[in-house]
Amino acid sequence: MSDSSENGRGRSPETPGGGRDPALALAALTKRYDDGVLALDEFDLTIEAGSFFGLLGPNGAGKTTLISAVCNLIRITGGQIRVFGEPHSTMLARRWIGLAEQDVNLDRFLDVRETLLYHGGYYGLTRAEAQRRAREMMDVFDLSAKAGTRAPKLSGGMRRRLLLARALMHEPRLVILDEPTASVDFELRLELWRYIRRLHGAGTTILLTTHYLEEAEELCEEIALIRGGRLIARDTAAGLREAYEADSLADVYVKAMGTG
Ligand SMILES: Nc1ncnc2c1ncn2[C@@H]1O[C@H](COP(=O)(O)OP(=O)(O)OP(=O)(O)O)[C@@H](O)[C@H]1O
Ligand SMILES: [Mg+2]
Repeated sequence: MSDSSENGRGRSPETPGGGRDPALALAALTKRYDDGVLALDEFDLTIEAGSFFGLLGPNGAGKTTLISAVCNLIRITGGQIRVFGEPHSTMLARRWIGLAEQDVNLDRFLDVRETLLYHGGYYGLTRAEAQRRAREMMDVFDLSAKAGTRAPKLSGGMRRRLLLARALMHEPRLVILDEPTASVDFELRLELWRYIRRLHGAGTTILLTTHYLEEAEELCEEIALIRGGRLIARDTAAGLREAYEADSLADVYVKAMGTG
């Protein structure tokens, strides 16, 4: 029987040197903001290449800080971050990551098509490649009718979709989605997950944060629970349910994050 992966990219991500480096390796990652807030406290986490990984935790747990650190958007206070074996601050590591941020940060002077083309250019796609990929992304995220519309004139959900389309423009090996389905309508949400699953099926590593626990339970192969900048637990949804003697991930969450 032959492998039936949909777009032929195969399952095993190619790694320089032929090794199987984890998609993400955090060692004693620490972030203290200038005002003294300790957002990450000696955080260790390894995410294997090809996995679908969920990061769950309450507001202020440190999820976005962790992601911002990985993407080199903030200066870390201590520790080490490697992306497929490369230090996170290298160009290579940065090109391997596609990030859809929690805060919608679109250039208000660019329309949908331009937003995608500029991003493609920034990541080294040729004009023709960028145009092809932009068309594909607008199609996938149902934005073709808004190709010439600037960000301020898009609806909230459309902006969120553009953010995702932009993150995927350069075909990253590690896709990081920080609360991607906030304000996305029901239908698009299903479509979005179908697409992300397909990406994952083709070998892309997915790191996701969400406050929708059912979503995490259904999608993620592994889940890390974080609180106060520390890792509380990490396992499959089934493993967590067992460890916490819980019926659902929501139940696990309540027990793990309980005020005790
Ligand atoms: N730029 C900043 N300066 C100072 N403190 C910050 C900054 N950004 C975040 N923090 C603090 O760091 C801690 C972690 O915040 P972070 O945004 O990482 O949480 P989060 O888990 O993403 O939460 P949410 O679910 O609300 O998005 C919080 O106490 C927050 O107030
Ligand atoms: Mg956040």
